[in-house]
Amino acid sequence: MAATPPMGWSSWNKFAEHIDDKTVRAMADAMVSTGLRDAGYLYVNIDDGWQGKRGADGVLQPNEKFPDMKALTDYVHSRGLKIGIYSSQGPRTCAGYEGSYGHVMQDAQTYADWGFDYLKYDLCSGEWFYDEAATVKRSYYEMGAALQATGRDFIFSLCEYGRFDVGSWGRDVGGQLWRTTGDITDDYPTMAKIGFDKNGKPEWAGPHGFNDPDMLEIGNGGMSADEYRTHMTLWAMSAAPLMMGHDLRESTPETLAMLTNPRVIAVDQDAKGVQAKALRKHGTMEVWAKPLADGRVALALFNRGDAASSLALVPGDAGLTAVTQVQDVWSGTKSAKLPASYTVPARGAVMVVVGD
Ligand code: DGJ
Repeated sequence: MAATPPMGWSSWNKFAEHIDDKTVRAMADAMVSTGLRDAGYLYVNIDDGWQGKRGADGVLQPNEKFPDMKALTDYVHSRGLKIGIYSSQGPRTCAGYEGSYGHVMQDAQTYADWGFDYLKYDLCSGEWFYDEAATVKRSYYEMGAALQATGRDFIFSLCEYGRFDVGSWGRDVGGQLWRTTGDITDDYPTMAKIGFDKNGKPEWAGPHGFNDPDMLEIGNGGMSADEYRTHMTLWAMSAAPLMMGHDLRESTPETLAMLTNPRVIAVDQDAKGVQAKALRKHGTMEVWAKPLADGRVALALFNRGDAASSLALVPGDAGLTAVTQVQDVWSGTKSAKLPASYTVPARGAVMVVVGD
Protein backbone atom coordinates (compact mmCIF):
# COMPACT_ATOMS: atom_id res chain seq x y z
CA MET A 1 0.00 0.00 0.00
CA ALA A 2 1.10 3.56 -0.74
CA ALA A 3 4.37 2.79 -2.52
CA THR A 4 4.14 6.51 -3.36
CA PRO A 5 2.35 9.26 -1.39
CA PRO A 6 -1.47 8.90 -1.50
CA MET A 7 -3.33 11.44 -3.64
CA GLY A 8 -6.94 12.52 -3.48
CA TRP A 9 -9.39 14.93 -1.88
CA SER A 10 -10.69 15.41 1.66
CA SER A 11 -13.83 17.20 2.80
CA TRP A 12 -12.34 18.95 5.84
CA ASN A 13 -10.53 22.08 4.62
CA LYS A 14 -13.49 23.39 2.65
CA PHE A 15 -16.58 21.87 4.22
CA ALA A 16 -15.55 20.96 7.78
CA GLU A 17 -18.48 18.99 9.24
CA HIS A 18 -20.93 20.37 6.63
CA ILE A 19 -20.47 17.39 4.38
CA ASP A 20 -23.12 15.06 2.96
CA ASP A 21 -23.70 12.22 0.51
CA LYS A 22 -24.65 14.56 -2.33
CA THR A 23 -21.47 16.64 -2.00
CA VAL A 24 -19.23 13.58 -1.84
CA ARG A 25 -20.82 12.25 -5.05
CA ALA A 26 -20.40 15.66 -6.67
CA MET A 27 -16.71 15.64 -5.74
CA ALA A 28 -16.29 12.19 -7.27
CA ASP A 29 -17.97 13.44 -10.45
CA ALA A 30 -15.73 16.53 -10.50
CA MET A 31 -12.59 14.44 -9.96
CA VAL A 32 -13.46 12.66 -13.20
CA SER A 33 -14.73 15.58 -15.31
CA THR A 34 -11.84 17.90 -14.43
CA GLY A 35 -9.18 15.29 -15.25
CA LEU A 36 -7.98 15.20 -11.64
CA ARG A 37 -8.59 11.46 -11.40
CA ASP A 38 -6.59 10.82 -14.55
CA ALA A 39 -3.80 13.03 -13.19
CA GLY A 40 -3.48 10.62 -10.24
CA TYR A 41 -5.90 11.87 -7.56
CA LEU A 42 -7.65 8.70 -6.42
CA TYR A 43 -9.14 8.96 -2.92
CA VAL A 44 -12.35 10.84 -2.06
CA ASN A 45 -12.21 11.14 1.72
CA ILE A 46 -15.02 11.94 4.10
CA ASP A 47 -13.58 13.64 7.19
CA ASP A 48 -15.34 14.36 10.51
CA GLY A 49 -19.12 14.87 10.59
CA TRP A 50 -20.61 11.75 8.98
CA GLN A 51 -21.30 9.81 12.22
CA GLY A 52 -24.70 9.15 13.74
CA LYS A 53 -25.51 6.92 16.72
CA ARG A 54 -24.69 3.35 17.62
CA GLY A 55 -27.43 0.74 17.40
CA ALA A 56 -28.26 -1.64 20.25
CA ASP A 57 -25.64 -3.98 18.77
CA GLY A 58 -23.02 -1.24 19.02
CA VAL A 59 -22.70 -0.84 15.26
CA LEU A 60 -22.20 2.79 14.31
CA GLN A 61 -24.70 4.27 11.90
CA PRO A 62 -24.08 7.32 9.71
CA ASN A 63 -26.16 10.43 10.39
CA GLU A 64 -29.07 11.56 8.24
CA LYS A 65 -26.75 13.28 5.77
CA PHE A 66 -25.44 9.88 4.67
CA PRO A 67 -28.51 7.70 4.04
CA ASP A 68 -26.69 4.71 2.52
CA MET A 69 -22.93 4.35 2.92
CA LYS A 70 -22.68 1.19 0.81
CA ALA A 71 -24.48 2.89 -2.06
CA LEU A 72 -22.11 5.85 -1.72
CA THR A 73 -18.94 3.75 -1.80
CA ASP A 74 -20.35 1.82 -4.77
CA TYR A 75 -20.97 5.09 -6.57
CA VAL A 76 -17.45 6.42 -5.92
CA HIS A 77 -15.93 3.10 -6.97
CA SER A 78 -18.00 3.14 -10.17
CA ARG A 79 -16.24 6.37 -11.08
CA GLY A 80 -12.86 4.62 -10.93
CA LEU A 81 -12.02 6.15 -7.55
CA LYS A 82 -11.48 5.00 -3.98
CA ILE A 83 -13.13 6.34 -0.85
CA GLY A 84 -12.01 7.14 2.68
CA ILE A 85 -13.61 7.66 6.08
CA TYR A 86 -12.59 9.18 9.41
CA SER A 87 -12.66 8.39 13.14
CA SER A 88 -10.84 9.06 16.41
CA GLN A 89 -9.79 6.87 19.37
CA GLY A 90 -11.69 8.67 22.08
CA PRO A 91 -15.42 8.53 22.82
CA ARG A 92 -15.78 11.69 20.69
CA THR A 93 -14.09 13.02 17.57
CA CYS A 94 -12.61 16.52 17.40
CA ALA A 95 -15.90 17.90 16.11
CA GLY A 96 -17.85 16.10 18.86
CA TYR A 97 -19.20 13.11 16.94
CA GLU A 98 -19.14 9.48 18.04
CA GLY A 99 -15.57 8.11 18.24
CA SER A 100 -14.31 4.53 18.16
CA TYR A 101 -13.54 4.10 21.87
CA GLY A 102 -14.56 0.59 22.94
CA HIS A 103 -15.62 -0.28 19.38
CA VAL A 104 -12.36 -0.48 17.45
CA MET A 105 -12.79 -3.96 15.94
CA GLN A 106 -16.46 -3.32 15.29
CA ASP A 107 -15.87 0.01 13.55
CA ALA A 108 -13.08 -1.35 11.35
CA GLN A 109 -15.44 -4.12 10.25
CA THR A 110 -18.20 -1.59 9.58
CA TYR A 111 -15.90 0.47 7.32
CA ALA A 112 -14.89 -2.71 5.48
CA ASP A 113 -18.52 -3.85 5.12
CA TRP A 114 -19.45 -0.46 3.71
CA GLY A 115 -16.60 -0.69 1.19
CA PHE A 116 -14.17 1.97 2.39
CA ASP A 117 -10.53 1.95 1.31
CA TYR A 118 -8.90 4.48 3.63
CA LEU A 119 -9.19 5.52 7.29
CA LYS A 120 -7.92 8.76 8.82
CA TYR A 121 -7.65 8.21 12.58
CA ASP A 122 -7.52 11.39 14.64
CA LEU A 123 -6.43 11.99 18.24
CA CYS A 124 -9.27 13.69 20.09
CA SER A 125 -11.22 13.46 23.34
CA GLY A 126 -9.03 10.81 24.90
CA GLU A 127 -7.78 13.30 27.47
CA TRP A 128 -6.87 10.60 29.95
CA PHE A 129 -4.36 9.06 27.53
CA TYR A 130 -3.67 11.94 25.18
CA ASP A 131 -0.24 12.72 26.61
CA GLU A 132 0.98 9.18 27.14
CA ALA A 133 3.08 8.10 24.18
CA ALA A 134 2.74 4.36 24.83
CA THR A 135 -1.04 4.55 25.11
CA VAL A 136 -1.43 6.72 22.03
CA LYS A 137 0.80 4.38 20.10
CA ARG A 138 -1.19 1.38 21.28
CA SER A 139 -4.45 3.00 20.22
CA TYR A 140 -3.07 3.36 16.68
CA TYR A 141 -1.76 -0.19 16.78
CA GLU A 142 -5.20 -1.48 17.79
CA MET A 143 -6.96 0.23 14.90
CA GLY A 144 -4.22 -0.74 12.42
CA ALA A 145 -4.57 -4.38 13.51
CA ALA A 146 -8.37 -4.17 13.37
CA LEU A 147 -8.25 -2.85 9.80
CA GLN A 148 -5.90 -5.65 8.79
CA ALA A 149 -8.15 -8.23 10.47
CA THR A 150 -10.99 -7.25 8.12
CA GLY A 151 -9.01 -8.63 5.19
CA ARG A 152 -9.74 -5.48 3.18
CA ASP A 153 -6.97 -3.17 1.95
CA PHE A 154 -7.00 0.15 3.79
CA ILE A 155 -4.69 3.11 3.69
CA PHE A 156 -4.26 4.01 7.38
CA SER A 157 -3.65 7.72 7.97
CA LEU A 158 -2.47 8.71 11.47
CA CYS A 159 -3.52 12.16 12.64
CA GLU A 160 -1.48 12.65 15.83
CA TYR A 161 -0.11 16.09 14.90
CA GLY A 162 3.53 15.02 14.74
CA ARG A 163 3.68 14.11 18.40
CA PHE A 164 5.54 11.22 20.04
CA ASP A 165 8.16 10.82 17.27
CA VAL A 166 5.44 9.26 15.15
CA GLY A 167 7.67 8.58 12.14
CA SER A 168 9.72 6.14 14.18
CA TRP A 169 6.69 3.86 14.77
CA GLY A 170 4.05 4.85 12.17
CA ARG A 171 4.90 1.94 9.90
CA ASP A 172 4.91 -0.53 12.80
CA VAL A 173 1.25 0.17 13.57
CA GLY A 174 0.25 -0.28 9.92
CA GLY A 175 0.26 3.42 8.95
CA GLN A 176 1.20 4.71 5.50
CA LEU A 177 1.10 8.42 6.42
CA TRP A 178 1.32 10.35 9.65
CA ARG A 179 0.67 13.98 10.36
CA THR A 180 3.62 16.13 11.28
CA THR A 181 1.81 19.26 12.46
CA GLY A 182 -1.38 20.86 13.66
CA ASP A 183 -3.96 21.93 11.08
CA ILE A 184 -3.07 23.89 7.98
CA THR A 185 -5.09 27.02 7.19
CA ASP A 186 -5.44 28.87 3.90
CA ASP A 187 -2.78 31.53 4.46
CA TYR A 188 0.89 31.81 3.56
CA PRO A 189 2.39 32.09 7.07
CA THR A 190 0.73 28.88 8.29
CA MET A 191 1.43 26.95 5.09
CA ALA A 192 5.06 28.12 5.04
CA LYS A 193 5.63 27.30 8.71
CA ILE A 194 4.43 23.75 8.12
CA GLY A 195 6.06 23.21 4.74
CA PHE A 196 9.44 24.73 5.49
CA ASP A 197 9.89 24.13 9.18
CA LYS A 198 7.60 21.45 10.56
CA ASN A 199 7.32 18.56 8.14
CA GLY A 200 8.83 15.84 10.28
CA LYS A 201 12.18 14.19 9.77
CA PRO A 202 13.04 13.40 6.13
CA GLU A 203 14.59 10.09 7.19
CA TRP A 204 11.15 8.89 8.32
CA ALA A 205 9.79 9.11 4.77
CA GLY A 206 10.09 6.41 2.13
CA PRO A 207 7.95 4.07 0.03
CA HIS A 208 4.89 2.94 2.03
CA GLY A 209 5.35 5.54 4.79
CA PHE A 210 5.27 9.32 4.42
CA ASN A 211 5.32 12.43 6.56
CA ASP A 212 2.00 14.26 6.15
CA PRO A 213 2.14 18.06 6.39
CA ASP A 214 -1.69 18.16 6.09
CA MET A 215 -4.00 18.72 3.16
CA LEU A 216 -3.66 21.19 0.30
CA GLU A 217 -5.34 24.60 0.38
CA ILE A 218 -4.81 25.30 -3.35
CA GLY A 219 -8.07 26.58 -4.84
CA ASN A 220 -9.49 27.96 -1.59
CA GLY A 221 -8.48 31.52 -2.44
CA GLY A 222 -6.45 32.65 0.57
CA MET A 223 -3.05 32.73 -1.12
CA SER A 224 -1.63 34.32 -4.27
CA ALA A 225 -0.65 32.26 -7.32
CA ASP A 226 3.03 32.45 -6.32
CA GLU A 227 2.21 31.39 -2.75
CA TYR A 228 0.15 28.43 -3.97
CA ARG A 229 2.99 27.50 -6.33
CA THR A 230 5.28 27.43 -3.30
CA HIS A 231 2.70 25.28 -1.46
CA MET A 232 2.59 22.72 -4.31
CA THR A 233 6.36 22.81 -4.84
CA LEU A 234 7.05 22.25 -1.14
CA TRP A 235 4.61 19.35 -0.92
CA ALA A 236 6.00 17.73 -4.11
CA MET A 237 9.62 18.12 -2.97
CA SER A 238 8.62 16.72 0.43
CA ALA A 239 7.06 13.54 -1.03
CA ALA A 240 3.93 14.63 0.82
CA PRO A 241 0.49 13.09 0.37
CA LEU A 242 -1.46 15.33 -2.06
CA MET A 243 -4.95 15.64 -0.60
CA MET A 244 -6.84 18.48 -2.21
CA GLY A 245 -9.01 20.55 0.09
CA HIS A 246 -11.14 22.84 -2.08
CA ASP A 247 -14.56 22.59 -3.71
CA LEU A 248 -13.59 20.75 -6.90
CA ARG A 249 -16.67 22.08 -8.71
CA GLU A 250 -15.23 25.57 -8.41
CA SER A 251 -11.73 24.76 -9.70
CA THR A 252 -10.46 27.51 -11.97
CA PRO A 253 -8.27 26.61 -14.97
CA GLU A 254 -5.28 28.02 -13.02
CA THR A 255 -6.04 25.80 -10.01
CA LEU A 256 -6.41 22.72 -12.20
CA ALA A 257 -3.20 23.51 -14.07
CA MET A 258 -1.34 23.78 -10.76
CA LEU A 259 -2.78 20.56 -9.33
CA THR A 260 -2.42 18.44 -12.47
CA ASN A 261 1.01 19.49 -13.76
CA PRO A 262 2.39 16.03 -14.65
CA ARG A 263 6.02 16.96 -13.99
CA VAL A 264 5.24 18.31 -10.53
CA ILE A 265 3.19 15.21 -9.69
CA ALA A 266 6.05 13.04 -10.98
CA VAL A 267 8.44 14.68 -8.49
CA ASP A 268 6.01 14.05 -5.64
CA GLN A 269 5.28 10.49 -6.76
CA ASP A 270 8.86 9.54 -7.57
CA ALA A 271 9.43 5.84 -6.79
CA LYS A 272 12.48 6.50 -4.62
CA GLY A 273 10.17 8.19 -2.11
CA VAL A 274 12.82 10.58 -0.78
CA GLN A 275 11.72 13.67 1.13
CA ALA A 276 13.77 16.71 0.11
CA LYS A 277 16.03 18.56 2.50
CA ALA A 278 17.12 22.19 2.56
CA LEU A 279 20.75 22.26 1.42
CA ARG A 280 21.61 25.89 1.86
CA LYS A 281 20.07 29.22 2.78
CA HIS A 282 21.06 32.70 1.63
CA GLY A 283 19.02 35.49 3.13
CA THR A 284 15.44 34.79 2.14
CA MET A 285 16.43 32.10 -0.37
CA GLU A 286 16.52 28.34 0.23
CA VAL A 287 17.80 25.55 -2.04
CA TRP A 288 16.28 22.09 -1.56
CA ALA A 289 17.26 18.80 -3.25
CA LYS A 290 15.33 15.55 -3.82
CA PRO A 291 17.17 12.63 -5.44
CA LEU A 292 14.96 10.79 -7.96
CA ALA A 293 14.74 7.10 -8.87
CA ASP A 294 16.24 7.60 -12.35
CA GLY A 295 19.42 9.18 -10.95
CA ARG A 296 18.41 12.77 -11.69
CA VAL A 297 17.80 15.27 -8.89
CA ALA A 298 14.91 17.69 -8.35
CA LEU A 299 16.10 21.06 -7.06
CA ALA A 300 13.82 23.76 -5.69
CA LEU A 301 14.68 27.36 -5.09
CA PHE A 302 12.35 29.09 -2.66
CA ASN A 303 12.16 32.80 -1.91
CA ARG A 304 10.65 33.29 1.55
CA GLY A 305 10.98 37.06 1.38
CA ASP A 306 8.56 39.79 0.40
CA ALA A 307 10.59 41.03 -2.62
CA ALA A 308 11.90 39.25 -5.70
CA SER A 309 15.39 37.85 -5.29
CA SER A 310 18.01 36.09 -7.43
CA LEU A 311 20.31 33.13 -6.80
CA ALA A 312 22.21 30.59 -8.91
CA LEU A 313 21.76 26.85 -8.72
CA VAL A 314 25.02 24.95 -9.22
CA PRO A 315 25.74 21.29 -10.13
CA GLY A 316 27.01 20.70 -6.60
CA ASP A 317 23.45 21.28 -5.30
CA ALA A 318 22.59 18.00 -7.04
CA GLY A 319 25.79 16.33 -5.92
CA LEU A 320 27.13 16.52 -9.48
CA THR A 321 30.30 17.95 -10.98
CA ALA A 322 28.54 18.94 -14.21
CA VAL A 323 24.95 19.29 -15.38
CA THR A 324 24.07 18.57 -19.03
CA GLN A 325 20.27 18.42 -18.80
CA VAL A 326 17.92 20.77 -17.04
CA GLN A 327 14.12 20.75 -17.13
CA ASP A 328 12.05 23.47 -15.56
CA VAL A 329 9.41 21.42 -13.77
CA TRP A 330 6.59 23.97 -13.85
CA SER A 331 6.98 25.05 -17.51
CA GLY A 332 8.54 21.91 -18.98
CA THR A 333 11.22 23.95 -20.78
CA LYS A 334 14.45 22.03 -21.32
CA SER A 335 18.00 23.29 -21.63
CA ALA A 336 21.53 21.89 -21.56
CA LYS A 337 22.84 23.93 -18.66
CA LEU A 338 21.80 25.87 -15.61
CA PRO A 339 21.31 29.60 -16.16
CA ALA A 340 23.60 32.14 -14.50
CA SER A 341 20.91 32.76 -11.92
CA TYR A 342 17.18 32.46 -11.25
CA THR A 343 15.03 35.37 -10.21
CA VAL A 344 12.27 34.13 -7.90
CA PRO A 345 9.24 36.28 -7.10
CA ALA A 346 8.33 37.17 -3.52
CA ARG A 347 7.10 34.05 -1.68
CA GLY A 348 7.59 32.13 -4.92
CA ALA A 349 9.40 29.00 -6.05
CA VAL A 350 11.35 27.55 -8.98
CA MET A 351 11.72 23.81 -9.44
CA VAL A 352 14.04 22.05 -11.91
CA VAL A 353 15.13 18.48 -12.53
CA VAL A 354 18.79 18.15 -13.45
CA GLY A 355 21.03 15.33 -14.62
CA ASP A 356 24.59 14.84 -15.74
C1 DGJ B 1 -8.28 17.65 13.38
C2 DGJ B 1 -7.56 17.27 12.10
O1 DGJ B 1 -6.24 17.76 12.13
C3 DGJ B 1 -8.31 17.85 10.91
O2 DGJ B 1 -7.62 17.54 9.71
C4 DGJ B 1 -9.71 17.30 10.90
O3 DGJ B 1 -9.67 15.92 10.68
C5 DGJ B 1 -10.42 17.61 12.21
N1 DGJ B 1 -9.64 17.17 13.34
C6 DGJ B 1 -11.78 16.97 12.25
O4 DGJ B 1 -12.41 17.20 13.45
